[in-house]
Amino acid sequence: MDKLKQRIIEESSVMSEQVLNLDGLLNHQVDPQLTMEMGREFAARFADAGVTRVITVESSGISVAFATALELGVPLVFARRKKTLLADPDALCERVPSFTKGIVTDIMLSRKYIQEQDKVLFIDDIIANGDAARGLVKIISRSGAELVGLGVVVEKCFQAGAQAIRNQGIRLESLVRIESLDNGSITFAE
Ligand code: G4P
Ligand code: NA
Ligand code: NA
Repeated sequence: MDKLKQRIIEESSVMSEQVLNLDGLLNHQVDPQLTMEMGREFAARFADAGVTRVITVESSGISVAFATALELGVPLVFARRKKTLLADPDALCERVPSFTKGIVTDIMLSRKYIQEQDKVLFIDDIIANGDAARGLVKIISRSGAELVGLGVVVEKCFQAGAQAIRNQGIRLESLVRIESLDNGSITFAE
């Protein structure tokens, strides 16, 4: 998506050799029209996969996951970050470390919203080390549903997450791939 690349060039800032601030596009503000285009692109790439549910983790994956689910005509389910007092007892939970926040969090998905016969498409904003992604992949696997693939808006190729997911035999599609953030500038992968 050339338009998305252009917007990233214009509206993101390189925080370090590891971290790109994408607040203006993904993590603090969203452009509904651009987000809908991302959703259409994921829906097109997974059009033949028979998706019955789109799944993400709160919070920054929700906007693009919503756009994808709308386009595919299926529900969007988002895993919650922590157990609430109202959480149902047989919710599926995984503990994951968070790269940017430096803490561990529990992610939780109720069995009510994922069933064995589901074919789920997992959508997320950014993949870095892939800890959060791995947690949700485990939850999907424990639910008995079929994971048809993972769609991420930004793949940071210099961190291990995306490759590790692909090495598990999971189809991973990204809209933009970043090779490096060295010397304060963004190098996109071909
Ligand atoms: P992930 O690759 O599965 O996302 O897991 P990882 O542990 O690598 O990253 C954890 C969190 O850090 C994720 O957000 C991820 O989007 C965010 N993150 C990783 N690298 C960058 C980066 O370069 N820029 C920005 N802006 N975020 C990055 P999260 O904890 O799921 O929080 P939320 O944004 O969904 O609330
Ligand atoms: Na994020
Ligand atoms: Na996320």
